[in-house]
Amino acid sequence: MSGETTSTPANQGNSVEIKYSGSRYKVIDRIGSGGQACVDLAIDTTNGVRVALKLPHDNQNYLSGGYFDREHAILRTLSQHTKQVPQLYDFQRSPPYLAMHFIPGKTIYAKIEDKTIYEQYSLDERVAMIAAVCAPLTAAHMMGIIHRDIKPDNILLSDDKELYLIDWALAKKTLETIYAPNETPFSGQSDGTQVVGTLRYCPPEQLDGSCTLSSDVYSLGAVLYELAAKRPFRNFNSTLNPAQRIRMIKAANGFITYVKPAVPAGLLSILEKAYSPKQRTRFANAYEFGFALNEYLNSTSPHPPSGKNSQSHTNCTPEQEPCTLLAREPSTATESVSTSPLE
Ligand SMILES: Nc1ncnc2c1ncn2[C@@H]1O[C@H](COP(=O)(O)OP(=O)(O)OP(=O)(O)O)[C@@H](O)[C@H]1O
Ligand SMILES: [Mg+2]
Repeated sequence: MSGETTSTPANQGNSVEIKYSGSRYKVIDRIGSGGQACVDLAIDTTNGVRVALKLPHDNQNYLSGGYFDREHAILRTLSQHTKQVPQLYDFQRSPPYLAMHFIPGKTIYAKIEDKTIYEQYSLDERVAMIAAVCAPLTAAHMMGIIHRDIKPDNILLSDDKELYLIDWALAKKTLETIYAPNETPFSGQSDGTQVVGTLRYCPPEQLDGSCTLSSDVYSLGAVLYELAAKRPFRNFNSTLNPAQRIRMIKAANGFITYVKPAVPAGLLSILEKAYSPKQRTRFANAYEFGFALNEYLNSTSPHPPSGKNSQSHTNCTPEQEPCTLLAREPSTATESVSTSPLE
């Protein structure tokens, strides 16, 4: 595939041929669109294989910001070490695209939104999902690669119940900059505030650009929190601008939404260690985090089924509340976060 690409519109239901010079890929549907790129389901006409075709919204930014270099290099390397990262089949630099293994399924984000993750899976099964995600993340961490944007949108649950960690565009090597020599911080914020990552899941140190492997642990811990507690890790008041949100995360040491219902004590201590605002008390990497989760899942003590854990705050009796997740919020358990104590 070379020459001009046109990536919209797909997703019209019927098979639509989008014009790519060379016509190697026939686009069937739009399967996703994130901050920087859209991803189409396409057929590779040379072999009939379905692929996920990632096309940046802004080719120039994707290239000059180093996202293309990072993502294709990391996918190529990492998918040789773990099956839970989509295999890269083909790529091109100019104009940029990545053709990778298509994973039929849904993101964890979609399954949280439609609540099926809570309806179809027990608490232990949800915990096991995060333990499963620790495997590809461990492979990355062993190579010194930090993902830097772990969130429910970037975790895929395939129809055959495998977990995949996707979207390595922001990933970075810890001690070198070969993938991103001229990194431009990704600004997803309307006021131009520069943050690499997604605020809701960012550990405090990532806001200053000082990520380590344990920064990924924090973000994955935040996802585990959402799966266990059934509510957002951070629920920003919509009136807050990004700068205010950043100030709040720093000032409150990563404030966590006030949470009930409770989770089992063993899981609570793992959660607190995973999203500890202080890096030195966190799991150092995905291996340590995954190990603790698997130990918890294998432990002999019976865990309450998710049904019991899913009771609403008002229905909980003290007996059903062996512990409470971090209650750093004001005493009223509201979904939105008040800014006043922190401003
Ligand atoms: N290999 C794949 N198979 C199936 N669906 C995929 C695949 N890769 C991505 N998707 C879908 O496309 C969506 C967007 O992909 P991705 O997260 O890579 O792009 P993005 O969020 O725009 O990336 P970036 O963070 O670089 O801006 C995903 O949330 C997912 O729904
Ligand atoms: Mg994404």
